[in-house]
Amino acid sequence: MKVALNESSLLEVPCDALILAVHPEVVSEAEGLLDSSLAGAISARRSADKLRTDRGEMTSFFPAESGGPDRITLVGTGENDLDGIGLRRLFAGAIRNLVSEGVRSVAADLTVPGFDGDTTAPITEGCFLGGYRFTGYKKDDDDPAALESLTLGFIDASSDVSSLEPAIERSRILAEATAAARDLGNEPGNVLTPSEFARRALKMSEELGLESESYDEEALEKMGMGALLGVARGSEEPAHVVKMEYDPGIEGAPTLVLIGKGLTFDSGGISIKSSQGMHEMKMDMGGAAAVFGAMMAIANLRPTQVRVIGYIGAVENMPDGRATKPGDVLTACDGTSVEVINTDAEGRLVVGDLVAHAVKTHDVDWIVDVATLTGAVMVALGNQAAGVISSDDGLFDAISRAGDRVGERYWRLPAYEEYREDLKSEIADIKNSGARYAGAITGGLFIGSFRGETPWAHLDIAGVAWTDKAGGLDPVGATGFGARTLAVLADTLSPVEAE
Ligand code: BES
Ligand code: MN
Ligand code: ZN
Repeated sequence: MKVALNESSLLEVPCDALILAVHPEVVSEAEGLLDSSLAGAISARRSADKLRTDRGEMTSFFPAESGGPDRITLVGTGENDLDGIGLRRLFAGAIRNLVSEGVRSVAADLTVPGFDGDTTAPITEGCFLGGYRFTGYKKDDDDPAALESLTLGFIDASSDVSSLEPAIERSRILAEATAAARDLGNEPGNVLTPSEFARRALKMSEELGLESESYDEEALEKMGMGALLGVARGSEEPAHVVKMEYDPGIEGAPTLVLIGKGLTFDSGGISIKSSQGMHEMKMDMGGAAAVFGAMMAIANLRPTQVRVIGYIGAVENMPDGRATKPGDVLTACDGTSVEVINTDAEGRLVVGDLVAHAVKTHDVDWIVDVATLTGAVMVALGNQAAGVISSDDGLFDAISRAGDRVGERYWRLPAYEEYREDLKSEIADIKNSGARYAGAITGGLFIGSFRGETPWAHLDIAGVAWTDKAGGLDPVGATGFGARTLAVLADTLSPVEAE
């Protein structure tokens, strides 16, 4: 999508729709200018108490003269205070509505009466994320119906806009990271195979100047990644791990490692899932997509304080004559033996092995893994927050703050030692699945058992990576959850916090 900043009045910008936020009581100068251009149509409604100003309500006017916006759309802010997340959601919702009515180019006024703070980033991100559509595979090519161009600025031409440029650029970078993660999540499993995922990660890294390396099954064998490879055994599609590295170019910068679960399809393996909803398991690579998007944003934002290494563990989980069976024992690269009780608890085998590998090979200050790990986290939290298991209060706080800034919520679950009992195996160091209850916690603790002493956080995004209903910032399908949080995290963690 094209994004531009406009210096003259937005009333002169040719576009399908011009959007302005309107408050139940506060009348902005921008609204006054619009009102004059519409011969008093807005004030007439206000005085008749007929202007729709509740949160998200929209009113469109179609001006007679041509050359500027084809329509003018007012979006209600509602009475209650809007925060940054609310403002993002407000504009995302408005854009989704307009796009569904055929709007492809939008000009948005950055004035929001009743909003305390800079509106530039929330409006840019909201419009961008609300205007996203997956390209798709339909044969009609009047689809995809996505927003094509966004112009930001003011109806009042006297405002100075040049100082807004950096905030718009940063928002564009963050929103594009989310869009990239959504694109990956929406791809079907026969297109986004592990090798295709690896190809795309290498291509992105090369284009943006990240150091990258890809490991095929032979390399993974040499690295001793028996747990990860055990998941891939039943598939015709070989596993691939990609490492992407961002170097801030300063001596002694602390290292943040990001690890993403990249199950391009999870059938459950021999512990096969029921067919109901199984097709959605093409999204089981949402964690790796978030890492991909975050690395993309980090390469563009160039944070100055930290080195960031992103790992994508791309694997397909299938049943087959050669597949890992319940009862098999696998060995991770740190020598830990794992009794596989359930081949459908595969994400922790992939991610745990990568955590062990990262701790072994890098001087790591923080590890964050992201995974669509458990159905249990959906039972606990639904689709409004990711569940977090963390060994480190400071790291959890930093993640939660980064999430607050971009509109992604994180809720910490208790990681009491006692829960570990569930993972004790009679014949191996650990087993991959515990009792019926607290599944999101035991899943996280399994992964944490590979971290050694490294400060670590595990983000279970199973409930938030996919949605059947458009809402908030999200279209139907993959949400790209986590990409922006991780990019902002890298940009806000500092060497002090590594101590
Ligand atoms: N990928 C699934 C978790 C999942 C479920 C993600 C629904 C998104 C939506 C994961 O690999 C899985 O199958 N987990 C099992 C673990 C169990 C066997 C211990 C689960 O949650 O049932
Ligand atoms: Mn599974
Ligand atoms: Zn899975």
